[in-house]
Amino acid sequence: MCGIVGYIGKDNAKDVIIDGLKKLEYRGYDSAGIAVVRNGKLEIKKHVGGIANLENLIGDDPMTSHIGIGHTRWATHGAPSDLNAHPHSNEDETIAIIHNGIIENYQELKQELIEKHNIKFKSETDTEVIAQLIGVIYKEKKDLLESVFAAEEKMRGAYAIVAVAQDEPDKIVAVRKDAPLIVGLGKGSNFIASDIPALLKYVKEIYLIENNETVLATADEVKIFDENRNEIKREVFHVTWDADSAEKEGFEHFMLKEIYEQPKGLSETLNRRLDETGKINLEGITLTKEQIENFSKIYIVACGTAYHAGLVGKYIIEQLVKIPVEVDVASEFRYRNPLVDENTLFIAISQSGETLDTLAALREAKSKGARVLSVVNVVGSSVARESDDVFYTWAGPEIAVASTKAYTTQLMCMYMLALYMGLEKGTITREFYDRFIKDLQGIPAKLETFLKKAPEIEEEAKQLYNREQVFFIGRGLDSAVSYEGSLKLKEISYINSFAIAAGELKHGTIALMEPGTLVIALACQDFLYEKMVSNIQEIKARGAYVMAVAKEGNVSIEAQSDRMIYIPECRDEIAPLISVVPLQLFAYYVAKERGCNIDKPKNLAKSVTVE
Ligand code: F6R
Repeated sequence: MCGIVGYIGKDNAKDVIIDGLKKLEYRGYDSAGIAVVRNGKLEIKKHVGGIANLENLIGDDPMTSHIGIGHTRWATHGAPSDLNAHPHSNEDETIAIIHNGIIENYQELKQELIEKHNIKFKSETDTEVIAQLIGVIYKEKKDLLESVFAAEEKMRGAYAIVAVAQDEPDKIVAVRKDAPLIVGLGKGSNFIASDIPALLKYVKEIYLIENNETVLATADEVKIFDENRNEIKREVFHVTWDADSAEKEGFEHFMLKEIYEQPKGLSETLNRRLDETGKINLEGITLTKEQIENFSKIYIVACGTAYHAGLVGKYIIEQLVKIPVEVDVASEFRYRNPLVDENTLFIAISQSGETLDTLAALREAKSKGARVLSVVNVVGSSVARESDDVFYTWAGPEIAVASTKAYTTQLMCMYMLALYMGLEKGTITREFYDRFIKDLQGIPAKLETFLKKAPEIEEEAKQLYNREQVFFIGRGLDSAVSYEGSLKLKEISYINSFAIAAGELKHGTIALMEPGTLVIALACQDFLYEKMVSNIQEIKARGAYVMAVAKEGNVSIEAQSDRMIYIPECRDEIAPLISVVPLQLFAYYVAKERGCNIDKPKNLAKSVTVE
């Protein structure tokens, strides 16, 4: 997500910070900024866009100072803009803050600051609320560390925060609560950062800060306090990574790192929108009960992986909301004169929010009067800006071209939308809703458990990587997942792969089955399990080599399969959140065996902004 760098010491802070921020560019961001204390005065420079824009803004000004903080922002509250960029400051601009994460109760805090202290806010961010809150407390305490401690007691959420104060230019204060924070230990200089790559050029010795810990750094000393404000000792961690592996946090490729980030992305996408009673809070979405009741049709339109998430969305929305749903690839939708009117809900799904076909389809639907809701990962992107409502996925920046964590978080949004609309429309009961939410909340832990099986899948890939073609089959939701598994394999390993609904095989495609043909069969839908076993028997009879994916406990399929991968038990509807992961891993390890450029496959781009 956002990148954080802080510096205090002998060198010029601006240079160290800009250099550190550049090392975090690979993570993706939409604006950048820096604050230093020069000659007893806090100075902030920030700009939307790349670090180059910030450097242009700074120009030849050395911003000479021994203390500063800098930030690259990945927008969550408020669009990317100069005003929303970090650092943020209090009203009299004496305290500056950078922040990664989300303050859940920021609206409540903001209201209190406006009502009790008459604070005038400059931006739409939750971060400014922190700066203003600390600013108000500082007036009384006149001590940055004490003020941050006091602010921590009022804030709820997941965050890392770094603060500097004009009146105390000899210290940086930082806090970690569920967002990464490290301290780099130099000689006569200390560093704060969200990620190791930012600091590698300067230090190899760091403190890994834990949740609910607060850091006080001066040029010569670093103190760490626990949540009870007791000073604690921390062992020094010696970094042995080079810059490249540090960016990937020790993973060999971004794709693998992003596969492993899925439990976190799913948990954030779900839990950040649940209130204390378990109800989904669609903050920023204004769909009314009346509108939901009046929708006669829903279109889900997207490209590639996002389209595959739409296939799952169709199934689940039709089941839970009882409104007919059509799923279209965006490049087709716009040229087929679709039957859209004012009673249509149009859902666009897009990781980047910049895919031209999806954007054009959205415009087409809007021009015909549809209500447009988008499911997007990049805040402030074109699709988000042109939609009536936006449901953001909280996957964090996705860097590998092949989409993984964006897909599973898109699925999570589909479940949440369906549950929300179903409850509003009365097509599901509160009891059903509560059970479903509980099951969704259990998925991240199940996925963590499943990811421990990665070595098994790697082993399979080592055996099977040299196949020339692979088939993926499944029924119901498994067939939607098989399309995604097939796309993952072909795009990164360049193997010709093909996905088909298992029941459709015998209507033609079965002609291609030969002894040894590799078929990956998903059998994760209990109510279709027996049917799937029969389909596998049909292809086994033609000599196919079957690798099956099934839920733990469904062992009868073993007799029909050459290889088995078991996923943890879960309700059928949400099995795609787990069953896609072995397919992602299989694609990854096969591509690795074949020596492919996994993160940047040939002919592909992360964001397709041409027709
Ligand atoms: C495949 C992949 C693509 C994208 C598609 C849409 O791994 O990443 O198929 O899903 O190009 O991109 P977005 O979601 O950015 O609209």
